[in-house]
Amino acid sequence: MRISFAAPAESKSGAVAGLVTEGGTLAPSLADLDGRLGGALARAIKSSRFTGKKGEILEVLAPAGLSASRVVLLGLGKPAEAGPLDFERIGGDLLVRLNAAGEKEAAVTVDALPDFRLEPSEVAARVAFGAQLRSYRFDKYRTTEKPERKPSLKKLTVMAAAAAGAKKAYAKLEKIGEGVFATRDLCSEPANVLYPESFAKQAKKALEKVGVEVEILGEKEMDKLGMGSLLGVGQGSVRESQLLILRWMGSGKAVKGKSKSASRSKGKAVAGLPLAIVGKGVCFDTGGISIKPAAGMEDMKWDMGGAGVVVGLFHALAARKAKIDVIGACALVENMPDGNAQRPGDVVHSMSGQTIEVINTDAEGRLILADALWYVQETYKPKAIVDLATLTGAIMVALGRTHAGLFSNDDELSERILAAGKTVGEPCWRMPMGEDFDRMIDSDIADMKNVGGRWGGSITAAQFLERFIQDGTAWAHLDIAGVTWSDKDRPTGPKGATGFGVRLLDELVAKHYEK
Ligand code: BES
Ligand code: MN
Ligand code: ZN
Repeated sequence: MRISFAAPAESKSGAVAGLVTEGGTLAPSLADLDGRLGGALARAIKSSRFTGKKGEILEVLAPAGLSASRVVLLGLGKPAEAGPLDFERIGGDLLVRLNAAGEKEAAVTVDALPDFRLEPSEVAARVAFGAQLRSYRFDKYRTTEKPERKPSLKKLTVMAAAAAGAKKAYAKLEKIGEGVFATRDLCSEPANVLYPESFAKQAKKALEKVGVEVEILGEKEMDKLGMGSLLGVGQGSVRESQLLILRWMGSGKAVKGKSKSASRSKGKAVAGLPLAIVGKGVCFDTGGISIKPAAGMEDMKWDMGGAGVVVGLFHALAARKAKIDVIGACALVENMPDGNAQRPGDVVHSMSGQTIEVINTDAEGRLILADALWYVQETYKPKAIVDLATLTGAIMVALGRTHAGLFSNDDELSERILAAGKTVGEPCWRMPMGEDFDRMIDSDIADMKNVGGRWGGSITAAQFLERFIQDGTAWAHLDIAGVTWSDKDRPTGPKGATGFGVRLLDELVAKHYEK
């Protein structure tokens, strides 16, 4: 689908759409049209339950005197209360309607209403962004889909007086959307196709195109670095584990000259970077020897969701040339049962020097993050680290399927993440941490064990990660197990992979790290 912007004009074909505010008041361009149609729109509203409330939609089919095929009335509610996310939802809802109707093209007029608290250009851009995000499909494996089941809409024109400004605002949002799509693609891909090496290769190819420096460590290199915790998880798989390192040096402060700076930073400490993002990339999680039940195990193809967010985020940051220096790391493994697999009770040596008794091989995410977090701190000395992981089923029990669990040693970083999540519609909820929880992962024979018992499972997982955070590093952990995949369609995406985290971290960077 192509999205474009234009000044308001009459469209002769396809569908037309516009805003209606609470109480059923037509926005000026619709009121205009209604006049030309002899009041057909007002009559249609009167003879329906549509009142212009937020989320309501009314379609008026082929009104006499109009060459367009239908008029779609989009309920906005009170204009003064509508925020960016409300306009995204309008764009998404509109797209769904148009595809259901089989429309090939449409024009939506976004009038600048006097009560708007957003810039008119921003309003129009958000409507477009919502339509873009909602248009996602993962259909590469469908070979027999009937044409009438495919999305019909090819062209959406957003008409606004502030078309030029809207186009500019959308150009930035569109790149973030591309990042979200990259993450959704990775999460949707089955594990026979996406495994540690193919993940790393695919990410390298895509990210180098937009200017991200990419480095891939294999098992040999990780063995030399002493990453026994990460390697233990992958040792039951025929697929080689990988550590994917991403560098986006967009601040302009780094040494000029591309190849020079690339080789200079390779593997060496670039001390004092502001931020690093680390993702759990378990390309498939069977549970290992502590094997999972069969029902729903297919979901574990998206146990690389954290790593997927890291890749999508770096795509977005690089594509929009974000002015920040940031490191990304994806810990990529496959957790399989096998004659060579790690056993419950095994003790592994992490890169930090701390030993871990592996009580349950299904608590594998924390094991790979332990070494990835340590490596990133040793190599880049970031002031702040955010990790993302589909870490525990327990976080879904606690928070359901809308909020990510936030765990942190730093109040300022937490507040920033909570605020960014609210702004972009990826809400988080802060969870408690502390010594009592930490004690639950003490081991009888090693420095710690990898599970803490029945209670507070998401918290003991976070306590485990914190044992690999060095003094002075601000750290936040997002448990995204409940939000990475949706069983239902949402306003800004179909059911399936959500890309939750890309927009949140892009917002965090834009708000607090870019000059
Ligand atoms: N990948 C799972 C967590 C998960 C579950 C993510 C469902 C998404 C949906 C993780 O590796 C895991 O297996 N966690 C265990 C930990 C337990 C063994 C302490 C869990 O949550 O049951
Ligand atoms: Mn597991
Ligand atoms: Zn897992």
